[in-house]
Amino acid sequence: MAEYDYDVLVIGAGPGGYVAAIRAAQLGLKTACAESRETLGGTCLNVGCIPSKAMLHASEFFDAAANGTMESMGIEVSPKLNMEKLHGQRLDAVDGLTKGIEFLFKKNKVDWKKGHAKFVDAHTVEVGGEKVTAKEVVIATGSSVTPLPGVEVDNAKHVVVDSTGALELPKVPEHMVVIGGGVIGLELGSVWRRLGAKVTCVEFLDEILPGMDSDVRKESRKIFKKQGIEFKLSTKVTGVSVKGKKATLTLEPANGGDEETMEADCVLVSIGRKPNTDGLGLENIGLETNKRGQIEVDGEFRTAVDGVRAIGDVVPGPMLAHKAEDEGIAVAEWIAGDTGIVNHDVIPSVVYTWPEIAGVGLTEEQAIEKMGGDEKAVKTSKFPMMANSRAKTNHEPDGFVKVIAEAESDRVLGVWAIASVAGTMIAEAALAMEFGATSEDIAYTCHAHPTHAEAMKEAAMGVQGKPIHI
Ligand code: FAD
Ligand code: NAI
Repeated sequence: MAEYDYDVLVIGAGPGGYVAAIRAAQLGLKTACAESRETLGGTCLNVGCIPSKAMLHASEFFDAAANGTMESMGIEVSPKLNMEKLHGQRLDAVDGLTKGIEFLFKKNKVDWKKGHAKFVDAHTVEVGGEKVTAKEVVIATGSSVTPLPGVEVDNAKHVVVDSTGALELPKVPEHMVVIGGGVIGLELGSVWRRLGAKVTCVEFLDEILPGMDSDVRKESRKIFKKQGIEFKLSTKVTGVSVKGKKATLTLEPANGGDEETMEADCVLVSIGRKPNTDGLGLENIGLETNKRGQIEVDGEFRTAVDGVRAIGDVVPGPMLAHKAEDEGIAVAEWIAGDTGIVNHDVIPSVVYTWPEIAGVGLTEEQAIEKMGGDEKAVKTSKFPMMANSRAKTNHEPDGFVKVIAEAESDRVLGVWAIASVAGTMIAEAALAMEFGATSEDIAYTCHAHPTHAEAMKEAAMGVQGKPIHI
């Protein structure tokens, strides 16, 4: 009789966990995956990437019809919002994709253990009353919303909500205040702004989108402002009180000063996410988290406890679905005795607003810092989308592509883009960086005309000092 029930038990069926489980099974390992939700796919498929993109996509059409963009192309329509259908198509997208993972589990013979998983010891996990043993356990429990002290989220009441509540609002708010000018605040703030809400974004720092290149942060705020989102930077929310359907926020300058109040009928709390480790029984295996609540791992995703590995949002690094997926594949490959590789220096990030905002690699500031503070050791070039024929033809003049390269070697260190299809364009930059490309390599690669991608080529040509179209 086998020593363990399974070779691998994965805890959590988000993009990290379900991908790890499928790859482990593909590699011939007997695999189970524990998931406490009713459906597979984790945050991403149920309440994250997918439903948010369904709302962004639909609201983009509404906005294009309502704000005169379609009319400017000779298409006259008077859009009318059907909230039931809008939410219906979101739920359909979630339903189809989460069922798809269930199908893939069956196809690959991954056993789904339904229920909350808790460690009994390093090789034994209790799931829904059943004890499951495995040679290797992979923690892929993801993350959840960071609460804001003094602010109580109640998604059912639709007044103070988190990202899950903001996806499900039954009607368009009159005034939505978004707390946090990060990815969620800007994506979901954009959805409701497009559908007719007045949106104010309150950000603690002096600029939105921390972590992104400073040119991108500044320019994107200007674009959002032009679209109607109002910003209160360097401001913190100290409390929210709710009376019936109205909320009153108290705000204070981040560095102290006079308090002010603001009224809203919807408040979105989006100040970050925290790793999920509560109730996992880590104390039973003697595994501690770091100061940020994350589980530390080595290059093979091994935790400090033998036989226990961890991936995805619960470990350090960007909280992104594709990072979790790549770690899912790699961890399974390590467990199977292969080499699993994730290049954490080349993980693209995309904000799916209009236009999209994307980046990979270092920001200009990080690149200069890497070069010991020597600004001349870094070359950059920006190509405006206004000068890109396809963007101009499509009435999408906002944004730019910025290429950052090491001056001496010309090796690309980072690429940033604001463009309608920046999320798709950034894949080229990630591939180039993965292959150690120089900006000259990109500049001398033939790009189809007329495409937005030509802006990437022109930005690279700019690093060479020879762009054609500006
Ligand atoms: P998760 O997807 O969080 O999955 C973890 C799973 O583990 C959950 O289903 C949870 O129920 C389960 N679980 C937790 N504890 C236990 C337990 N003890 N027992 C059993 N099961 C357990 N990222 C992108 O890259 N692109 C996007 O466009 C994007 N959009 C987003 C939009 C929103 C609104 C949000 C909130 C997030 C978004 N993200 C996006 C982030 C992305 O969702 C996460 O980075 C990704 O889901 C992390 O994957 P994961 O597998 O680590 O964890
Ligand atoms: P975030 O970390 O992106 O942004 C949070 C923002 O809130 C920061 O700008 C921060 O300075 C600000 N903030 C923190 N405390 C504050 C306070 N008290 N008052 C005002 N502002 C405050 O976090 P967010 O937007 O909640 O998203 C969480 C994570 O989910 C993201 O970091 C990302 O990893 C993931 N995500 C990814 C998406 C994508 O890839 N397109 C989409 C949505 C989420």
